[in-house]
Amino acid sequence: MYYVRDIQKHFGNNHVLKGVSLDIEAHKTTVLVGPSGSGKTTLLRCINLLEMPDSGVVHLNGEEMVFGKGAPPKYASGPVRALRRKTGMVFQNFQLFPHRTVLGNIIEGPVSVLKQDRAQAVGEAEALLEKVGLSDKRDAWPRDLSGGQQQRVAIARALAMKPELLLFDEPTSALDPELEYEVLSIIRQLCAEKQTIVIITHKLSFAQEVADKIVFFDGGRILREGSWDEMNDGSVPRIAQFLNMLR
Ligand SMILES: Nc1ncnc2c1ncn2[C@@H]1O[C@H](COP(=O)(O)OP(=O)(O)O)[C@@H](O)[C@H]1O
Ligand SMILES: [Mg+2]
Repeated sequence: MYYVRDIQKHFGNNHVLKGVSLDIEAHKTTVLVGPSGSGKTTLLRCINLLEMPDSGVVHLNGEEMVFGKGAPPKYASGPVRALRRKTGMVFQNFQLFPHRTVLGNIIEGPVSVLKQDRAQAVGEAEALLEKVGLSDKRDAWPRDLSGGQQQRVAIARALAMKPELLLFDEPTSALDPELEYEVLSIIRQLCAEKQTIVIITHKLSFAQEVADKIVFFDGGRILREGSWDEMNDGSVPRIAQFLNMLR
C-alpha cells in the first residue's frame, strides 16, 4: 500500500498543500489533473521527498515517515533514502545529465547508488533502451536527441533503478505534438504492465484511457477523486469548467 496522509507544505507564506491525503493503489495508474499552481508537482515531490512536507505521513509499502514532529529529517538520512529508493521520477523537462551519454545516464544510478556491477548495469540498460526504442542511441549525447528521445531515455533511466512507484510530472508537456506520441506509447505500455504509476497530465484523452483513478486537484487540496466517468459527470462546476477548458 502506498499513501500520503494530511500533507501540509508551505513555501514561505505560500500555503501550497493544505492537508492532502491520497491512496495510491499498487499496480494501478493514478492520474492527477488540475489547474496550474494547484500543487500537483509539489505533491509528487513530497511523495519522493525531493521536498520535505511540513507535516503529514508518507507511507510507501512498509517504509514510512511522519513529518512535523521535531526537526525536519536530513536529506541523506537512512529513512529518507529508503523511501526515495522506492520511487522513480520522470520530469517535465527530462533533466538528463548533459555530460553523460545515453548509456551513461541510464547506468549512473544502478552503478553509483545501487552498487550494481557495471557490466550487469550495461546489460540491463541495453535491454531498457530496446524497450524504449532507442538501441541505436546508446552512445549519443543528450543534446543530439529530440525532446521525445530525451524523455524516453529519462524513462529508461527511471526504470533502471527498478522503482516500485513511478512518478511522471507532465511528461509530454515540453514536447511538440508529433513527439508526444512516442512517449505516451511507452507510458501506456508501462500502465498495461501493471506498474504502480502516478502521472500528472493535461492530456485528457490519455488520462481517460490509462487512469484507474483520476484525482482532481485545486488550490492545494484534492477536490474529488474517482473514475473518469465520475469526474466527467458535470456534478462539480469547478471540475466541469476545467475539463471543458482542456477539450
Ligand atoms: N521550490 C519552490 N519554491 C517556492 N515556491 C514554489 C516552489 N515549488 C512550487 N512553488 C509554488 O507552489 C505553488 C504550487 O506549485 P506546483 O506544485 O508547481 O503546482 P502545479 O504543479 O499544480 O502547477 C505555486 O504557487 C508555486 O509557485
Ligand atoms: Mg506542475
